[in-house]
Amino acid sequence: MTAEHDKSNSEQEQFSRRTMMAAAALAPVMLAATSTGASAQARATATLEYQPSGKVALVTGSSRGIGAAIAKRLARDGFKVTVNCVANRDLAASVVREIEAAGGAAIWEQADVSDPAAVRRLFAANDRAFGGVDVVVSNAGIMRLAPIKDMTDDDFDRMVAVNVKGSFNVLREASRRMRDRGRIITLSSSITQLRSPTYAAYAATKAAQEIYANILAKELEGRMISVNALAPGLVNTTLFTDGKTPEQIAGFAQRTPHKRLAEPADIANVVSTLCGEDGWWVSGETVFANGGIV
Ligand SMILES: NC(=O)c1ccc[n+]([C@@H]2O[C@H](COP(=O)([O-])OP(=O)(O)OC[C@H]3O[C@@H](n4cnc5c(N)ncnc54)[C@H](OP(=O)(O)O)[C@@H]3O)[C@@H](O)[C@H]2O)c1
Repeated sequence: MTAEHDKSNSEQEQFSRRTMMAAAALAPVMLAATSTGASAQARATATLEYQPSGKVALVTGSSRGIGAAIAKRLARDGFKVTVNCVANRDLAASVVREIEAAGGAAIWEQADVSDPAAVRRLFAANDRAFGGVDVVVSNAGIMRLAPIKDMTDDDFDRMVAVNVKGSFNVLREASRRMRDRGRIITLSSSITQLRSPTYAAYAATKAAQEIYANILAKELEGRMISVNALAPGLVNTTLFTDGKTPEQIAGFAQRTPHKRLAEPADIANVVSTLCGEDGWWVSGETVFANGGIV
């Protein structure tokens, strides 16, 4: 355990104690307010009870790229983390080792999100290790590009299976099993706004995430679970860079106001904010994190 981790745990404990004291102090106020005009105010004040970062986060597709950065960042924020891969077990294991070396707790589990039974096994493994889940990030995704006239059935079907059905499998399991007062984030993409040629099928699968988040946020009413889609722009991972020349990548970077691609950590920082103690009022939204390229 590092000193930094000890400090973070002790800060969390202090926060939990503070919020429990605030909740105890509020209880009589809330009882008195149930049939008065003050009830709305009491309900709003009751948000003080919210305890940030729950304790456990499950991040799909976290063996590399954006998901790995999210897993490491949430571990740094004090979450126990379940890491997931579909093929690269060594990479998933190395993300876990890195988290453990920094004083955190993590497990990894291979599961293809397009398979509902595998997703159930993933959540079950998380529950066995950590006893429940408070934050779920549906991040696993794939991208195949071609003009509509050239898109193959295989590529189209696999994108739908992983991005549309796979994310649905994860969100369904999350909404069945998550503890109240948690956060769900599903990864969309700013391509839903940029709408560049060759991206039609991929962008359509990402647009589904924005619909999922908005509707699921409403379906989970009363459980204090905030649900959002997060839509990065151009991020420096193999998903974006594969098949592009260094010159093409540099050209894309120059088109962004900040003159560079996002690094995965830039996106993980936004996830950390949404999952932090001050992020919970954002719900049902698509949060665009693209450095201003749209
Ligand atoms: N990079 C960008 O510019 C960008 C922009 C906007 C949105 N996004 C979205 O951000 C998310 C992450 O993208 P990324 O760039 O980090 O991708 P990436 O570097 O290609 O990593 C993809 C991750 O997803 C996992 N994965 C793929 N298929 C899976 C499946 N069927 N079941 C479980 N895990 C699976 C991979 O596991 P293995 O290592 O085992 O293959 C890997 O961990 C995606 O949803 C993507 O659409 C990316």
